[in-house]
Amino acid sequence: MHVPVLFNETLEYLITDPRGVYVDCTVGGGGHLQGIIARTGEEAVLIGIDQDGEILEKTRTRMSGHANVILAKGNFRNLQVILHGLSITSADGILIDLGVSSFQLDEKERGFSYHLDDRLDMRMDRELDTSAWDLVNKWPLDKLEQIIAEHGEERYAGRIARGIVNARQHRSIDTTLELVEVIRRSVPAGYKRETHPARRTFQALRIEVNQEIESLKQVLPQAVALLKPGGRLCVISFHSLEDRIVKDYFARESRDCLCPGKQPVCTCGHKAQLKVLTRKPVEASPAEVARNKRARSSKLRVAEKLEF
Ligand SMILES: C[S@@+](CC[C@H](N)C(=O)[O-])C[C@H]1O[C@@H](n2cnc3c(N)ncnc32)[C@H](O)[C@@H]1O
Repeated sequence: MHVPVLFNETLEYLITDPRGVYVDCTVGGGGHLQGIIARTGEEAVLIGIDQDGEILEKTRTRMSGHANVILAKGNFRNLQVILHGLSITSADGILIDLGVSSFQLDEKERGFSYHLDDRLDMRMDRELDTSAWDLVNKWPLDKLEQIIAEHGEERYAGRIARGIVNARQHRSIDTTLELVEVIRRSVPAGYKRETHPARRTFQALRIEVNQEIESLKQVLPQAVALLKPGGRLCVISFHSLEDRIVKDYFARESRDCLCPGKQPVCTCGHKAQLKVLTRKPVEASPAEVARNKRARSSKLRVAEKLEF
C-alpha cells in the first residue's frame, strides 16, 4: 500500500481553483490524485501520468468512476508532448512526486527491493532497454563507483564498486539478494548496523536506470511553460541531488536578471517567471514520519507562475 507523503500540505498549495486543470506527473497508485478529486469539482480536468504501465492500469480501474480523470502512460520528460496529445495547453497546478512507489517496491519481479529476491531490474518503464542487471554486470568500475557515490551518496562507493567487479568475474550477479550479499561483503561491519548496507546502492542504480535526474531537469521548464499565471508547481523530492535541482531552478526563474553580480547594466534580458512560495522546503512532521518512514527525507517545494 502506497501512502502519499505531505498529502495535505501539497494539496493546500496545489489547488487554487476547484474547476481548474491539474496535472499529476507521477500519479502512481493515485494517492495524491484522490486528494485532488476530493478538493475539486466535476468540471475540473485531472490528468495523471506515469511511466509505469502496470501501476497505471491498476489506477485506471480504481479511477473508472471519475469521468474527469484522464490517465496517460508516459515519461514526464515528455510532458508537453503528452499534454498536447490530450489537447491540454495550460494547467492551474502541476504535481511531481519523485522517486519510487511502494507498489513498485513491494511487487515481485520488479527488482527494486533489497528485501525481496528478484531478478535485478528496477525499470519503472518495462520498455526501457537498460536494467539494473546491465549496469551491475557490464559497467566499468569507475562508472559504477561514480553513480553509487553521486546518486547514492554512498561513502563506501569505491569498495562496493570493486566488490561488484570482483564478484562478477566469477559469475554474473543476477538477483537482488546476490547483489545485497556482494555489498554486505564489501562494507565494514559497523556500517551494517547503522543502515541497510544496500539501501544507497539500490537507490543509485534505480536513479541511473530510470534517468531520474535528467527527466527532472527536462520537466521543470516544460511544467512552468504550461502553468497559467497564478498556477502552481509542487515538487516533492527524496534526495538532496533532486532537491538541489528544484531549488536552483526555482531560484533562477524567480530572478529578473542573471548577469554576473558586478555587471552594472543587464545584458541577459532574463525575466522572472516564478514566485517561490516555500522559502525553505516543507518537510514531513514527526507524526507523519512515525506513520510513514518514506516521508523521512521528503521535501516539498512550490512556486507560482507570475502574471505578465
Ligand atoms: C512516489 S510515486 C507517486 C505516488 C503518488 N503521488 C501517490 O500518491 O500515489 C512516483 C511514481 O512516479 C512514477 N515516475 C517516476 N519518474 C517518472 C517519470 N520520469 N515519468 C513518469 N512517471 C514517473 C513512478 O513510476 C511512480 O509510480
